[in-house]
Amino acid sequence: MSKADKEVLLAIRNLEVHFETRRGIARAVNEVDLTLYKGERFGLVGESGSGKTTLILALLRMIKTPGLIAGGSATLDDGTDLIQLDREQVRQARLKRVAMVPQGAMNSLNPVMRIGEQLMLTMREHATDRPSPPKAAQLERAIELLAKVGLKPEVARLYPHELSGGMKQRACIAQAISLNPQLILADEPTSALDVVVQRQIMQTLRQLQHQLNATVLLVGHDMGLMAQFAERVGIMYGGKLVEVGRVEEIFHNPQHPYTQLLISSIPSFETKGEFKGIPGVALSLLDPPSGCLFHPRCPESMPQCSQRAPILQTVAPDHLASCLLHEEVADAPAS
Ligand SMILES: Nc1ncnc2c1ncn2[C@@H]1O[C@H](COP(=O)(O)OP(=O)(O)OP(=O)(O)O)[C@@H](O)[C@H]1O
Ligand SMILES: [Mg+2]
Repeated sequence: MSKADKEVLLAIRNLEVHFETRRGIARAVNEVDLTLYKGERFGLVGESGSGKTTLILALLRMIKTPGLIAGGSATLDDGTDLIQLDREQVRQARLKRVAMVPQGAMNSLNPVMRIGEQLMLTMREHATDRPSPPKAAQLERAIELLAKVGLKPEVARLYPHELSGGMKQRACIAQAISLNPQLILADEPTSALDVVVQRQIMQTLRQLQHQLNATVLLVGHDMGLMAQFAERVGIMYGGKLVEVGRVEEIFHNPQHPYTQLLISSIPSFETKGEFKGIPGVALSLLDPPSGCLFHPRCPESMPQCSQRAPILQTVAPDHLASCLLHEEVADAPAS
């Protein structure tokens, strides 16, 4: 996709999600700005607890107490702000415009309902603006959906426990695409599966994305898998988006020290699969450090990093990073 034909699908601005706990407020999503384009595959990475799932759930308005959306907007191409929708409007937007393949999706199927019935029910529940087609037509559509995700028609008659993990995951994807959404939010859709099945399912997701011309926001830990799937990647740390750019750029020219550490910790042939990990104590959102949240663990930390929070800004074409190393360069007087 060239830059000229990039059309914005979703503009997330200043999104803020808080969890109010007895021990204080955790800013799980902290002033996040992110633009997603039509038909792109975007990967969101970051260590456990960095706010990836919370960001996705906020877009679907599925944050539960003690969490709340404390501010910001997420505006679709027609001007709809997902954050401002009322209950009924949210119900209408789900699946038709924005759908999710949840984290641990395999447990999200109803254990006492046949797969075909579940797909038919989903389509009926969300398509309330027109009368339901006859049962036979609904079943036909369910079978068509199963075929799209590589499942045989017979699967419609089976219960979830009769399916393998990979098949269950495919059934969840079928459910997510049942009303042709423009945006598919996939939260670590393959993390519980073995590597071969993982790769096959990612391939299916990719084909579907292409057929539907949908935008996919894929969340994951695995930088290797992301590199294969995504065109652009965003890196989260402590609820903040710290770097965004094209996948090749992020891998070959990472600008944030956290991203650099993430990339260098990917097991390679040279390191014989040894995972180096990132030094330092994981961040506590209830007691965050001052200034840049990463500074206590950052190998390039400077005195000002504990005093001032960096902002996400352009460091190269189509490449944003939030690090004072770059602001220092930008701020330095021309000599
Ligand atoms: N129910 C909750 N109560 C209190 N705090 C919560 C709750 N759910 C999430 N949080 C806070 O939100 C932060 C982000 O959690 P989230 O699940 O979004 O992380 P994640 O990046 O998806 O992690 P993982 O990779 O493990 O799935 C957590 O670190 C935690 O502080
Ligand atoms: Mg998560």
